[in-house]
Amino acid sequence: MSDLSTIRSAALGAVEQAADLAALDAARIAALGKKGSVTGLMKTLGAMTPEQRRAFGAEVNQLKGEIETALEARKSALSAAALAAKLSNEKIDVSLPARPEFATWTEGTLHPIGQVMDELAAIFGEMGFSWADGPDIEDDWHNFTALNIPPDHPARQMQDTFYLPKRADGTPMVLRTHTSPVQARTMLDKGVQKMLADSGSLRIIVPGRTFRIDNDATHTPMFHQVEGLVIDRTTHMGHLKGCLVEFCRAFFEVDDLPLRFRPSYFPFTEPSAEVDIGCSWKGGELKIGAGDSWLEILGSGMVHPNVIANCGLDPAVYQGFAFGMGIDRIAMLKYGIPDLRSFFDADLRWLRHYGFQALEWPSLTGGLGR
Ligand code: DAH
Repeated sequence: MSDLSTIRSAALGAVEQAADLAALDAARIAALGKKGSVTGLMKTLGAMTPEQRRAFGAEVNQLKGEIETALEARKSALSAAALAAKLSNEKIDVSLPARPEFATWTEGTLHPIGQVMDELAAIFGEMGFSWADGPDIEDDWHNFTALNIPPDHPARQMQDTFYLPKRADGTPMVLRTHTSPVQARTMLDKGVQKMLADSGSLRIIVPGRTFRIDNDATHTPMFHQVEGLVIDRTTHMGHLKGCLVEFCRAFFEVDDLPLRFRPSYFPFTEPSAEVDIGCSWKGGELKIGAGDSWLEILGSGMVHPNVIANCGLDPAVYQGFAFGMGIDRIAMLKYGIPDLRSFFDADLRWLRHYGFQALEWPSLTGGLGR
């Protein structure tokens, strides 16, 4: 018995005092290893009567358990201390400025997509639009069905959709193929419906990420769109035209920029129009403005009555217009960036060349441009 308590205090003491993981392992071996003290006690069981063995065996087992628990506890304490020591040794102050002898470039720059989003917010903000958001992971209903694209509609094939596993409740999920589902999310909002019922008008832009299975010099699997939506009781195609002419002239900074509205088809608008801006190609170089050529830049139309009804509004009372545009594309056109894929390479040299100073004003507000 005294043997047992001596062994207990020696073993637990060694565990407690182990200063590092190697010492702790030595303590483990001294107690529980092949030639360890506790293992030695086990070996004495063979010479005992069955009753002695049962009683003593239980005590030895309990001691073994105690030592194992102590080993575990000490091990996690030592690992935590080792990690804390490592972290404090390797601490660096990331807020310190770069040492000038190592810094070739001391300031970060804004990515052209962020810059263009700021410009969109400034231009549409002046026209009374506010900024709305929605999820990148969208359900099939908001991405398609609500927008008058029922399950068997051929437009679903046109969109090269990334399908995701169904949600637990069976809802089919996708990576949103366009920013248009945020039209539905906004119209369905109870606060928005109340504001409209009180004769207000809804005007939003929705800049954000969109996804399609596509990859070449002008398509990437993730890209950016901006959606626009206006809903009230009286807005018409003339307002759509005026709004988009105003936007394009401000954005491209060309006061007499010609626009061409071409009849088109989208399931969620009727009538629908694609919009081209005037341009010319001199010596292979693109110039935006009056010229002999056209560039397509956006899709638009009057919101289809089915969409208005799907979103819980009465199409006999409400009408509106919508548009959708590729942000990356208008950034490439405005700033002369030739390859879409370069936007997402995170190449510092590219960012230094095409990036913007953080405090530069977006173009509409009378800033200096690049
Ligand atoms: N959602 C369309 C697309 O991704 C773009 C678009 C066209 C949006 C017309 C609109 C619209 O709101 O009216 O191709």
